[in-house]
Amino acid sequence: MGRRVELYGWVRRQRDLGGIIFVDLRDREGWVQVLFPADPLKAEAATLRAEDVIRVVGTVQARPEEMINRELPTGAIEVHAEELEVLTRADVPPFVVEDHLTASEELRLRYRYLDLRRPAMMRCLLLRDQVTFEARRYFHELGFVEVETPILTRSTPEGARDYLVPSRLSRGEFYALPQSPQLFKQLLQVAGLGRYVQIARCFRDEDLRADRQPEFTQIDVEASFITEEDVFTLIEGLFARLFPLVGITPPPRFPRLTHRDAMERFGSDRPDLRFALELQELGGVAGECSFEVLRQAAATGRVKGLVIPGGAAFSRRQLDELGEAVKPYGAPGVVWFRRTAEGYASPAKKALGDEGVARFLAAAGAGADDLLVVVGGASRVVLTALGALRVALARQLALIPAGQHAFAWITDFPLLEWDEETQRYYACHHPFTSPLPADLARLESDPGSVRARAYDVVMDGYELGGGSIRIHDPAVQRRVFAALGIDEEEARSKFGFLLEAFRFGAPPHGGIALGLDRLVMLMSGRDSIRDVIAFPKTTAGNCLLTQAPSPVAPAQLAELGLALADRGAGE
Ligand code: AMO
Repeated sequence: MGRRVELYGWVRRQRDLGGIIFVDLRDREGWVQVLFPADPLKAEAATLRAEDVIRVVGTVQARPEEMINRELPTGAIEVHAEELEVLTRADVPPFVVEDHLTASEELRLRYRYLDLRRPAMMRCLLLRDQVTFEARRYFHELGFVEVETPILTRSTPEGARDYLVPSRLSRGEFYALPQSPQLFKQLLQVAGLGRYVQIARCFRDEDLRADRQPEFTQIDVEASFITEEDVFTLIEGLFARLFPLVGITPPPRFPRLTHRDAMERFGSDRPDLRFALELQELGGVAGECSFEVLRQAAATGRVKGLVIPGGAAFSRRQLDELGEAVKPYGAPGVVWFRRTAEGYASPAKKALGDEGVARFLAAAGAGADDLLVVVGGASRVVLTALGALRVALARQLALIPAGQHAFAWITDFPLLEWDEETQRYYACHHPFTSPLPADLARLESDPGSVRARAYDVVMDGYELGGGSIRIHDPAVQRRVFAALGIDEEEARSKFGFLLEAFRFGAPPHGGIALGLDRLVMLMSGRDSIRDVIAFPKTTAGNCLLTQAPSPVAPAQLAELGLALADRGAGE
């Protein structure tokens, strides 16, 4: 108290209370109350408007007891001004710079610098800085070396579309922006660097969502002579360092679930494990039942269900909504079962009778107040539809305990994924992921059953990161390419430099990449990664602030040897 201070900042608001002017002065750390009790300063302070930039010199005083604001870090003090200098006058901003604002996200993105002035947004930027700083320190202490890999490069194999950059010097040729530093971090292992880390910008031209941006940042890690266990320990140690920054203590070891178990029990490869609500296997009871639709589904595919606690009281509209909710996943609808005061009920009751309905309820372990929701069909459809329903219902029924978090490793992903549309296998992770040695013999005879040495780390229903132990044996790599339908010629033209490198002494190696944006989003309790990226793009891929992407001058195109076929006819 009594300290003389010089403050610079933005006027949050100015009020005249009983002949004294109060100004809340804001900077990136928060705001403080400044008093202008007497003229001539008071008269000048009266002219201040929100967002004017000022300099104040004054003394720090304790606030009178009844004026203390315990919600605020600076709530017990105020600054009595002795000097005031107006550095810039601001126009009336397009929205009030306050945390509780009603402005649309569009307007906020258009004036992002004002949006970032809001304390909640500024806190996200500051947290992101702390997270990257701590992560670098953690890896550095463990002997990891940060290496920058190229942004102008060749296509990298993460499965999304590439952003292309035309070359002026090599007309008709293009760089691709990296979807990840995958190939380079593997080459650095061949180079003998070993422990590599990079806070790396990645670019993917894919459909955008709240947790996806066209450019995003990974904490990218790779090392030689390591196993899955080493990667798990490394990342668990990192999280033990990072999450306490926001008061979250992760368990020292994360539970592990195989991909198969995650799909069967939770209908998702990134299950939200903060609540139970597990999928129930009903293939047995359905296979023997007299309701044609489900008996057929059990014979040709799968039948599984979900027991909704207290769901017996669902209204007709709520039941209809359940059917609608599974349609986007390819399921025709749901069959529900319940027991009410009037007896057993289900759209299948006519065929099944009371006894048949009771059998389904018992097989699923449904209690008197519960609703059983059943989906039948192809395995993938049944699992993903019920998995999505599980999450939607948990939110709707408030089954997710506040302030609780659930981390897990998902392991043993399939190596390959069959795509009906193109009638071929794709790599689940990427083509350099090692098959499980125990499954390698089936790579040609039953490729779909081969598991990979791949893992994801998930938290609260989000995939935070993924990685794998890589193939370092050129013979195995050739077999995996063959299973993917990539012939020698294509392999050479796409990844020839990597295959060549592997001929000169490739150490066994593996790694992982964490999505930094998603990590900071979850740490700050946000539900969009746009909130933790200073200048993000909209879901249409536009930057509303700079108006990128934008047309370019014909001369610029000509210099690159390009001509537009049909402007604006993108997908
Ligand atoms: P993967 O493709 O699984 O693996 O990506 C790793 C993590 O990056 C984050 N992520 C994204 N975040 C925001 N917007 C996006 N569009 C986006 N795409 C991915 C996710 C994801 O878990 N090279 C491999 C890693 C490896 O094998 O080491 C890779 O990139 O959090």
